[in-house]
Amino acid sequence: MCGIIGLTCIPGSTPDRPSLMVYRGLLRLEYRGYDSAGVASIPTGSSKVVVLKGKGKIIELEKKYGFSKVDGCTIVAHTRWATHGAPTDINAHPHTDCSTTMAIVHNGIIQNYRELRKELVDKGHVFVSETDTEVVPHFIEELYYKYKDIYSAFKKTVEVLEGSYAIALISVVEPDKIFFARKDSPLVLGLGNGFNFVASDIPAFLEYSRKVIVLRDYEVGYITPINVFIEDLRKNRSVGYTHRVRFIEWSIEDASKGGYAHFMIKEIFEQPRALKNTLQGIEGDNSFQKAVEILLDADRIYVTAAGTSYHAGFYYSLLMQELAGTPVVPFIASEHYVYERAASEGDVLIVVSQSGETIDSLMALRAFKERGARVIALSNVIDSAIPRESHLALYTRAGPEIGVAATKTFITQALALAWLAVSYALASGGLSSSEAEGIRGELRDSPRILSELISLVEEKAKMLSEWMSRKSSVYYLSRGIGLPVAMEGALKLKEIAYIHAEAYPAGESKHGPIALVSEGFPVIFVVPTDNYLEKLLLGNVQEMKARGAVAIGVASLKTSLGDQLDYVLPVPRTHWVLTPLTHTLPLQLIAYYTAVARGLDPDKPRNLAKTVTVE
Ligand code: F6R
Repeated sequence: MCGIIGLTCIPGSTPDRPSLMVYRGLLRLEYRGYDSAGVASIPTGSSKVVVLKGKGKIIELEKKYGFSKVDGCTIVAHTRWATHGAPTDINAHPHTDCSTTMAIVHNGIIQNYRELRKELVDKGHVFVSETDTEVVPHFIEELYYKYKDIYSAFKKTVEVLEGSYAIALISVVEPDKIFFARKDSPLVLGLGNGFNFVASDIPAFLEYSRKVIVLRDYEVGYITPINVFIEDLRKNRSVGYTHRVRFIEWSIEDASKGGYAHFMIKEIFEQPRALKNTLQGIEGDNSFQKAVEILLDADRIYVTAAGTSYHAGFYYSLLMQELAGTPVVPFIASEHYVYERAASEGDVLIVVSQSGETIDSLMALRAFKERGARVIALSNVIDSAIPRESHLALYTRAGPEIGVAATKTFITQALALAWLAVSYALASGGLSSSEAEGIRGELRDSPRILSELISLVEEKAKMLSEWMSRKSSVYYLSRGIGLPVAMEGALKLKEIAYIHAEAYPAGESKHGPIALVSEGFPVIFVVPTDNYLEKLLLGNVQEMKARGAVAIGVASLKTSLGDQLDYVLPVPRTHWVLTPLTHTLPLQLIAYYTAVARGLDPDKPRNLAKTVTVE
């Protein structure tokens, strides 16, 4: 939620105009929030910061204000996903102190802002916005009178903040520095030659810097064009960072649209390559084997996540049940307080999070850890908070995902979790070695299977989407292993095409939901090649069709059973374990093309942000 970027440079040392570099970075952060945006800079010799900001999309604001043309070599910028205060010009970041000598950008929520604001108003500070963020520059201003040192005032301010924050601050007092602090909201540094960046995410500066330091909770400090200083706020001492500098291998194409109309369709098409990378990661080190050992030793296993990642976690719980006969409790991360009560030493929690920063998942992790449980993370972002705080980190290695709707990261989570479940089932005796090898062989073949699937299904999905785009409600039904896929299909459609979509176990639809079905109502059946095939096609499909529903199936049918469906999105026949790998892609395409047919931007769904760092 919200993207921040800052750049400080020696004049003349940057490959492009500094404000243009920041503007480009801001555009790459737009997936984090896009209801308003702004830029603050310190023009050479100025005694005030210059702030340009407003409500609207970054491109529109660029036309209005010329973000990319501001003067100065020390610049911070922000793209907002509103929490406190409506998206308005005034509430947009950056925010300043009374004397406009400093500007800050913030991602997160300051929980104690009401008390702080009152205290500051009583001391005569004048607030102009409704945001929680605005207390920060005023508090620093207040402390600066006392300490006469901007960094000390900044540090002391951060110490009183409660909640989550990633902050970047510029001040005319020390005009070549950007001060930063992080707690429970992501923040990274990008190192250049004669310039340095601070940002919410790596793609923001990837065009200009591949040397990255991922900041940790309670770290504060500053960058100058040639230096980095990091301190641990809790220990009150500086932190060595040279061993933490990582070189990022992603190409800028990974974080660009590369000729596609949207990131989402590019990322759907990238899935075969992403799966290849996941497989290389799985077979390239022994962390999956270590995870199996931890799981074999567990009294109880839980899996938690949010949104799409939860669907992957739910799939894992079904696999463990079916392949190994081992129950795994899946729960939605924001409900952790219900489940953590029963957690104890000997339990294992698996946390699935592509970003590794989702606050609900992080809170679940911390609650279980506190009770002595061991935690295994599955994430796409190396060094992010969730893998860092876990006992063992597994990675999907799908590359950066910029589209707000998760696509390639879901498929790679499914592959990684299938691998984990099969390895566990083999080790615990649920699968023989030939059975396990058979499934692993198909998992290894999944990049090829998905490449072929794209050409098999794209046109059909596109045609169906034209029709779907005129509908207002859709059901996604399945049984067993197909259910997480149905849930994922429904989530994709509602989040980017704004069509009401619900997923149900097909058998459950008779117990209420079928009341909504009338002539022409679309029902999408996810049809896995498992034992439930006949129940689905001869039972549930017929029930729906008898009420006028149009039955669409994602299926690999070569038999007469296929005739039961009105429209088939064909997928290759594989072992049932691979169902999410084969059946999800057609549903992603339907969501994408339906959104496009409705004239919507699938990369920027309303009200959503890619990483949810508020509870
Ligand atoms: C849906 C989507 C979200 C995320 C959820 C969890 O397309 O992207 O539902 O899956 O916010 O995010 P991570 O996986 O980063 O924890």
